[in-house]
Amino acid sequence: MGSPRWNRLCLLLLAGLTSSLLLYGHYYATVGSPGSRRIIGSLLQPEPLVLAPRGTSGRAGSHRWAREGGSESGKSFEPSTVLEEPKPSRKQPSTCLHSVMSRAKADPKFRELFRFDTPVLMWDQHFTPETWDRLKTRHVPYGWQGLPQAAVADTLRLLNTSANRRLLDRAALGGGCVRCAVVGNGGILNGSRQGRAIDAHHLVFRLNGAVIKGFEEDVGTKISFYGFTVNTMKNSLVAYEEYGFTRVPQGKDLRYIFIPSDIRDYLMLRSAIQGSPVPEGSDKGDRPQKYFGPEASAEKFKLLHPDFLQYLMTRFLHSEVLRTQFASLYMPSTGALLLLTALHACDQVSAYGFITANYEQFSDHYYEPEKKPLVFYANHDMLLEAALWRSLHRAGIITLYQR
Ligand SMILES: *[C@@H]1O[C@H](CO)[C@@H](O)[C@H](O)[C@H]1NC(C)=O
Ligand SMILES: *[C@@H]1O[C@H](CO)[C@@H](O)[C@H](O)[C@H]1NC(C)=O
Repeated sequence: MGSPRWNRLCLLLLAGLTSSLLLYGHYYATVGSPGSRRIIGSLLQPEPLVLAPRGTSGRAGSHRWAREGGSESGKSFEPSTVLEEPKPSRKQPSTCLHSVMSRAKADPKFRELFRFDTPVLMWDQHFTPETWDRLKTRHVPYGWQGLPQAAVADTLRLLNTSANRRLLDRAALGGGCVRCAVVGNGGILNGSRQGRAIDAHHLVFRLNGAVIKGFEEDVGTKISFYGFTVNTMKNSLVAYEEYGFTRVPQGKDLRYIFIPSDIRDYLMLRSAIQGSPVPEGSDKGDRPQKYFGPEASAEKFKLLHPDFLQYLMTRFLHSEVLRTQFASLYMPSTGALLLLTALHACDQVSAYGFITANYEQFSDHYYEPEKKPLVFYANHDMLLEAALWRSLHRAGIITLYQR
C-alpha cells in the first residue's frame, strides 16, 4: 500500500470497473424499463451517456483522419460496404462555383466519401412497405427495429408539405452561393467576438444548449435551424439551465431539425404537429408547444432521414467503438450530424465552436464561467470528429474556426 505505482494501479482498476458498470448500466437501461432509463439518463451529461474507459477515445480518434497528416500516400478512408447505395433525390440546382460540392469533388479522398444525392430529409412519401421492411431490420439509433409501425407511420404522414422535403429554399435566398454557419457550443467561442461573422451567413444552425443571451458578441443572435434529439434537447434544458439555457429557441423563421434516434423523436414530432400532449412513452404528458412555441405547424419541422444518418456515421464517422461490444451506444455528436447535414445542403459552410486540435486550452462550453475540461464519453468519438473537421478544413470544404 502507499507506493505510487500501486495507487495508480488501484485507480486504473477502479476507473475500469466504474466505466464497465456505467456501460453495463446504460446498456441495461437501454434494453430495460423506461423507468431505469430515465434515472440513468438524468445522471449523465446531455449528450454523452457513458464515460469512456481511459484511452478508448484516444485510440479510436487517433486513426485514419489523424494519420492523414503524416503519410499522404497512406491508406485513404475506405467507405464501408455496410450501407447500400442511397437513392438519388432531386434537389434545387445550385449555381455556386466555389461550393462544398466542387471542393469535395476535387479532393481524392472526399470525392469517394460524399454522396450528394443522398436524401437528407424524410417525409410522408418515404413511408413505403419497402422502407419499413428495410429499416425495421436495423436497430436504433438510425433504424426502426422495435419501433411501433403506427407511430412512425403517423409521424411521417404529417410531414406532407413542400417545406418538409427540403432543408432550405434556394429561390427564397435569391440565388448565388448559400452560406451557412453551424455553431457548436465549444469553449473556443468564449471571448471570440465572432458574433457578427456568424450572423453574416445566410443561415445559422444551432443545437442543444445554445445559450445566446449574454454571449451575442461571441456567438451572434441569428438562428435559422435548431437541431437536436428529444433526449439531447431535454437534457440540455436541465444541464445548462444554470448557464441560461432556460428554453428552446423559438421564432417565426426558425425551423427545427429532428434527429431521429429513438421512438421519442417520432412521438414528440407527431404531437408537435398535432399540437397535443405526448400520449405515451418517456415524454408522456409533455406539451410540445412548451418547446416549439404555440404555432408549430408541419412546415416548421425537418426530420433527418435515418438512411442519411446511417450514411454519415458509416462513411464519415465510423468509429472503432463500432467494432466493440459498445457499438450500439455509439453515435456521432449532435454537432457533428448537423455540420455534416449543412455540408449536404448549403454551398459554403463555416463551423464555429467545434472541437479543434488545441481543445485542451478551452472550456467544455463557451458559457461556463469557470473552465471545465472536455470529458470524453464512449458514445461519441470526439477525437475522430476533430480529425475529420481538420481534414475537411484542409481540403477547403469547410472553414473551421480556430484560434
Ligand atoms: C397533410 O396532412 C394533413 C393531415 O392529414 C391534412 O389535413 C392536409 O390537408 C395535408 N396537406 C397536404 C398539402 O396534403
Ligand atoms: C471566458 O472569458 C472570460 C473573459 O475573457 C473569462 O473571464 C472566463 O474565465 C472565460 N471562461 C472560461 C470558462 O474560460
